[in-house]
Amino acid sequence: MGIQRLKVVLAEGKGYDIRVGAGVLAGLGGHLREVTRSAGASPAAAAPAAAEAATEVVAEAATKAVVITDSNVGPLYLDAVRASLSEAGFEAFDLTIPAGEGSKNLAVATELWEALALLGIGRGDLVVGLGGGVVCDLAGFVASTYMRGIACALVPTSLLAMVDASIGGKTAVNLAGGKNLVGTFRQPVYVAVDIEALATLPAAEWENGFAELAKSALVDGGGFYRWLVENAVGLCAHDEAVVQQAIVQALTFKARVVASDELEAGPRECLNYGHTFAHALEALSGYTLSHGRAVAEGMRFAARLGTEAATVMGELVNEQDGLIVSLGIEPVRESYGADELFQQLYADKKVRGGELRFVFVCEPGEWEVAAVDPDLVKIYLIYWEQAKVAATAAAAAAAAAE
Ligand code: GLY
Repeated sequence: MGIQRLKVVLAEGKGYDIRVGAGVLAGLGGHLREVTRSAGASPAAAAPAAAEAATEVVAEAATKAVVITDSNVGPLYLDAVRASLSEAGFEAFDLTIPAGEGSKNLAVATELWEALALLGIGRGDLVVGLGGGVVCDLAGFVASTYMRGIACALVPTSLLAMVDASIGGKTAVNLAGGKNLVGTFRQPVYVAVDIEALATLPAAEWENGFAELAKSALVDGGGFYRWLVENAVGLCAHDEAVVQQAIVQALTFKARVVASDELEAGPRECLNYGHTFAHALEALSGYTLSHGRAVAEGMRFAARLGTEAATVMGELVNEQDGLIVSLGIEPVRESYGADELFQQLYADKKVRGGELRFVFVCEPGEWEVAAVDPDLVKIYLIYWEQAKVAATAAAAAAAAAE
């Protein structure tokens, strides 16, 4: 299928390149050299290729590149990334954090800031985030705050990070009070999506990526949605060409949304479809519930609520359920009480002026955001709890009958 190039085009002629395909990683150092050179070029020389120019913080001669990775991904890809950076003339360093959501906090961020300072990293140098969503969010956060912001390139290695966290410039760490509560908007300078990295992806991680793909396709509608419905089988079989096409479509969609609303003042909110309820479930599970399952459950909840709270079409509920099942995304097995869910919903970043706000997909490609009467939300939370209790009882009865 070859390597495909996409762009995120931002205001004032800024933007960045994304490369997607097998073997992209080998060219990382060379591509980063191109990025740093084009950022260092004079404004006149850079003008025709304005969309290719990276952020202004990349100096002409970025000499040091610090790879931030985690204890799962580092052993697999760090050597290749460092070799590519060294070949391109960067002085390469690496910092490894423990794998998992538990590392996405200010204590680990502080250790990374201190390590960058000890390495003598300056404003013209680069951070390279190599890993899944936790690494992309954390490396982006550390780079965007160190010395008031140095450049960051991202090499996502999970399907979820490839289709979501790696582009759009949202960086974050978690607080005890909730997920992603501290962060910045700072776009990466380059994103390398090497689909060969998916060869080592655990099964549960595929589910996470599939849920974000379903979300993107439902919000985007049209060709992407129909394509996903028709290609769910190929995707579940991890057919390389189908996977690459899915990633390219999701990135094309997200790049368009980010270009229209970089700081989430409006249209970018569509990317939060399913996430209001998902974040509440994840928090109540102590972040043991997989993001993909939580998002799929959140989409199911929003669709049902939206038949009353918005103009969600009845058929959407069934179509969406069918898509989620065809992608092999398992339902959430845990049951939580309507009251505790209701309280947790209020911790969401989308709560404004005490109003609970949800993104609704009314039909594929048509979405809206609406504040919902809390009493109606409570009723649908009770329906959800009752459905979970019934499903658990049915599963227990089936197991006993075997
Ligand atoms: N993950 C949602 C966004 O990037 O806006």
